[in-house]
Amino acid sequence: MKSSLFRLGRQAMSAPRALRPSDGAACAALHRASFAHPWAASEFEALLTDSACFGEAIEAKSRLAGFVLSRRALDEAEILTIVVDTRLRQRGCGQRLLAAHLSQLSALGVIKLFLEVDETNEAALALYRRLGFTQLGMRKGYYVKKDGLRANALILGRAQT
Ligand SMILES: CC(C)(COP(=O)(O)OP(=O)(O)OC[C@H]1O[C@@H](n2cnc3c(N)ncnc32)[C@H](O)[C@@H]1OP(=O)(O)O)[C@@H](O)C(=O)NCCC(=O)NCCS
Repeated sequence: MKSSLFRLGRQAMSAPRALRPSDGAACAALHRASFAHPWAASEFEALLTDSACFGEAIEAKSRLAGFVLSRRALDEAEILTIVVDTRLRQRGCGQRLLAAHLSQLSALGVIKLFLEVDETNEAALALYRRLGFTQLGMRKGYYVKKDGLRANALILGRAQT
């Protein structure tokens, strides 16, 4: 096995690499499979060409398996989204992506990191807590689900070392 590959279960995945504008369509496809209000490929392309935005990607069989994307402002950043292919979840991919991303943000001088997450999203909450995020606040009824019901958003934060 090449050193740039590691195995999670039976699926070979690449080491994390930087997200690029050409990933926009693949990001949109993964996002669409996971969220009630998907972002278009053109929106991802615009974000990925914005010099304030940074992200990491992991591939499996030369296709995007997961990605994380943040926007930075001076020494703060907000995680805009993180998605892992539905078929490749709970194999450590999200944790590996986010850990790589935290290192990149640290190297860029980011010391405060924020995000919003649906309070019913157990998988995302487990991932974020695993990597040291804690709750800073809540936005009541922030998310509108496909069925029209609303869910609260938790605001999480992490101080970078
Ligand atoms: C959130 C998400 C990125 C996690 O990716 P993943 O590759 O499955 O995560 P990992 O396998 O690295 O697991 C990370 C931690 O979360 C836990 N976890 C993952 N899925 C879980 C689930 N469905 N329920 C409970 N815990 C879960 C794992 O057990 C692990 O915790 P541990 O190390 O303490 O055991 C993935 O579920 C996803 O893409 N969800 C849809 C998009 C989304 O909701 N993004 C977040 C928006 S804020």
